[in-house]
Amino acid sequence: MKILSPSILAADFKCLGGQIQEVDRAGAQYIHVDVMDGMFVPSISFGMPVLSSIRSATEKVLDVHLMIQNPERYIEQFAKCGADLITVHVEACQHLDRVIEQIHSQGIKAGVALNPATSLSVLEYVIEKIDMVLLMTVNPGFGGQKYIDSCTLKIKKMREWIDQKKYGIDLEVDGGINKETIKTVLDAGANVIVAGSSIFGGDAQKNTKELLEIMEKYEA
Ligand code: DX5
Ligand code: ZN
Repeated sequence: MKILSPSILAADFKCLGGQIQEVDRAGAQYIHVDVMDGMFVPSISFGMPVLSSIRSATEKVLDVHLMIQNPERYIEQFAKCGADLITVHVEACQHLDRVIEQIHSQGIKAGVALNPATSLSVLEYVIEKIDMVLLMTVNPGFGGQKYIDSCTLKIKKMREWIDQKKYGIDLEVDGGINKETIKTVLDAGANVIVAGSSIFGGDAQKNTKELLEIMEKYEA
C-alpha cells in the first residue's frame, strides 16, 4: 500500500491545525512530525506540547521522526502525546535493539531511519523486529533540500531485500520529494512518501491531491 506523509515542518505554524486539516481532507494517510534537538541535527524544531496539539487536530496516523540524540530518553513521552509510529535514527542510538523494544512496549509501531551515508547492513540484526525503514534522501536537519541521487540505488537495494525475504515492512523515504522525484522513489520501491515543502510550499490541499494521484498510478 502506498502512503503519503506530509511533513508539517514546512507548514505555516501560525495556523498549524488548519494546515493539517487541509492535507487530512485531501486524503493524506499519515502526518509526518519532525522532531529536532539541535544536537543530532543542527536545527531545533518542536517537541511534546506541539505533538499533543496535533493529536487533537487529526485522527490520521502520526508518523513521528525523532532526529534526536539518545531518543530512549523520550520514547514514552512521545507515545503518550499521541505518536502512532516512532522512528529513531540508527546513528543516534547506542542500543538500537533496546530502543525498538521500548517503542513496541508502548503499543505502537517502530521505524528505523538511516542517513544517506549509512549502509543498509546496520539493519541486518533488527530488520525482523521493526515495522518500517526510513531512508533519508537528504541529510536530515532542514526542509527544502535537494534529493540526493545516490539514494535511488539504496532504495532499490532495500526494496529487493524486503521482498526477497518477505519481511512485509514499510519503506519510507524523506527529503527533497516533489512531483518529479516522487516518480524516481516509487520506481525504486518506496511505499511511504514524506513531502514537506512540495506540499506546504503552496496550496497544500491541491499539492496533496496531485502527489496522491501520481502514487495511485503506481498502485496497479
Ligand atoms: C528533514 C526532515 C524532513 C523534511 C522534508 O530533515 O526529516 O521530513 O521536513 O522536507 P522536504 O520535503 O522539504 O525536503
Ligand atoms: Zn522527517
